[in-house]
Amino acid sequence: MMELSRDLEAALGGAKGPRYAELLRILVALGELNDAPRLIPVWSVQLSGISFKTMGTPGTEFLEDAAREVRFSVPTTINPAGYDVGGPGIVPASEDFKEKQQRIVRSLLAMGAISTFSCTPYTTQYSPPPGAHLAWAESSAVIYSNSVIGAFSNREGAPSALASAVTGFTPEYGLHLPEGRRAQAVINVESSKDLHYSSLGGYLGKLLGSRIPFIRGIHPDVDDLKAMGSAMSAWGSVPMFHVEGVTHEAERQVLSGLETYHVGPEEITQFERTLGLDGDEPSLIAIGCPHATAGELRYLARVIREKRGGKIKPRIEVWVCTNRQVIQENPDTVAFLTAAGVKVIQDTCMVVAPIGTSYPVIAVNSAKAAFYASKRSFSGQKVLYATTEELIDRWA
Ligand code: F3S
Repeated sequence: MMELSRDLEAALGGAKGPRYAELLRILVALGELNDAPRLIPVWSVQLSGISFKTMGTPGTEFLEDAAREVRFSVPTTINPAGYDVGGPGIVPASEDFKEKQQRIVRSLLAMGAISTFSCTPYTTQYSPPPGAHLAWAESSAVIYSNSVIGAFSNREGAPSALASAVTGFTPEYGLHLPEGRRAQAVINVESSKDLHYSSLGGYLGKLLGSRIPFIRGIHPDVDDLKAMGSAMSAWGSVPMFHVEGVTHEAERQVLSGLETYHVGPEEITQFERTLGLDGDEPSLIAIGCPHATAGELRYLARVIREKRGGKIKPRIEVWVCTNRQVIQENPDTVAFLTAAGVKVIQDTCMVVAPIGTSYPVIAVNSAKAAFYASKRSFSGQKVLYATTEELIDRWA
């Protein structure tokens, strides 16, 4: 049995209303299932799955009911919506879809959500400090926060993240404890200079399932870590990774007795082939999964300058998806990209927007986007996959 404070016991009995008690029960049940000794306070919550495309009508109605009864008690950031809700309306969506999406947005904002509409809350003012306990649901943000920031978060589902946003607590188990963060496999990478980190991440996700790797032989920057982690948590359900000489907790890992794997260019090339490296002309090139950082916007601008003399061809559409804060903080880069013909998209992304019919063939640089875009339950698109440089060089 979990140890609960007197206040929490009272709330469980209905002192803060039936909806609060119902949400708290989710956390208690989750904690008991995982032998958590107690509930601990969280620094912030990240809610995912807020596009109408993923939430659907039952989820929308549940949120509307909840918004009449409860409020968030900790900073709660939210994932991309189904279209550019606060933007210039670039993303194609029907009026019916927009109306349904607005119902979700209204409910979330009424409960106190912060209108980040981004899967990279760590690129906003709500980035957590190392050591913060979080209840984040976006898998790419969870793996980044654990591995790169040194914060602590399990990969929450929609109900438990919502329950944490309302109560401010999460059960203490898994990635919140030192033993839940230990390396469970060693990966020796035979790295090449043009290693595509998203491909490495996707390959490792498939290989590892949910095991935490200790990775040797790579020299990633933060954007590489973001790309690798997001793909690892999409192709597998890896919640954290350690990179020798790079990430916070790598030095503390005990590696003896762990299964060791070798990954070289051959394995990575083979994996890339499964993503559809070659194929038709794309109807859309989409960059920014997870949402592009300032560094990724600058890199895209540099590639367009070098490969295309600062202007893409008029017949191809190029999107870069990012968040409001990154747009506001990088006006010159955004102006350059816009003048070059790139559409800088805020508040949504190429996966959660309903764009399968408008853009049946999509070209992406992200193994996570490739994983979801081709799924029938998302957009069922034909996917082409390559690096940013290759995408611009070849099609833009
Ligand atoms: Fe973010 Fe959309 Fe990719 S939510 S991680 S850009 S699928």
